[in-house]
Amino acid sequence: MTHRKPVIAGNWKMNTTPSEGRDLALEIAKGVSDFPGVEVIVCPPFTGLANVSRTVESSNVLVGAQNVSAEPSGAFTGEVSTAMLDELVSHVIVGHSERRALFGETDEDVAAKAIAVHSAEMKPIVCVGESLDTRKSGNAVGWVREQLRASLDGYAGWGSLIVAYEPVWAIGTGEAASPQQAQEIIGELRSELVELAGQEAAEQIRILYGGSVNSNNIGPFVDRPDIDGALVGGASLQAAEFVSIVENTARVYGNPA
Ligand code: PGA
Repeated sequence: MTHRKPVIAGNWKMNTTPSEGRDLALEIAKGVSDFPGVEVIVCPPFTGLANVSRTVESSNVLVGAQNVSAEPSGAFTGEVSTAMLDELVSHVIVGHSERRALFGETDEDVAAKAIAVHSAEMKPIVCVGESLDTRKSGNAVGWVREQLRASLDGYAGWGSLIVAYEPVWAIGTGEAASPQQAQEIIGELRSELVELAGQEAAEQIRILYGGSVNSNNIGPFVDRPDIDGALVGGASLQAAEFVSIVENTARVYGNPA
């Protein structure tokens, strides 16, 4: 069993109005209060952050944003800066595959965002993961290692970093990677982090699996030596299901309640 505290993060994507978000966060906060051994993070859309952060204030639930601008302020219509988020969240997801594929974010953009998040004393959750074509080509390991290296170019806040490995082919498809596949890549990502950050720092960094995680399949993922939790999309929108994921993680880590 590892010394790293497991993380279960819910990525709500473009779902929930401010009042729906408040209700969901309240249910989750109640449900996970018995599992302080798991770090629980919910990531509502920007419009839900104020309600949700107020709702979970005195619980063991943390709040994250799903994106941020790397620019500090100015004429960037529609964008949100780290200073705006800082009052509301502790974590920010950067480089989610949907941001990369649908909104053209490059590794360079992702690195700039991760650096901006760390500079503002928040914690980036940096996402990486290969497409189905890359997996079929047989070079997923090399490709994802390079993507992580490029997405952390210039980044040095190792103590704040969380990495999420999310194979694109497993996101929202109901076809999760196998725990062995996830462990293989995540073990490689930890080796990459050893090269970037040194052994001691790399050993402390939580690396999550993401892609069709639910309460039935979470156990064997977090049982693997290098997998320190999950980034959960669809299953994070139902309080009972999300709480079960947290509970099953706590069980694997030996603190069921
Ligand atoms: P999913 O999404 O759990 O719905 O597959 C995961 C994610 O995109 O973070």
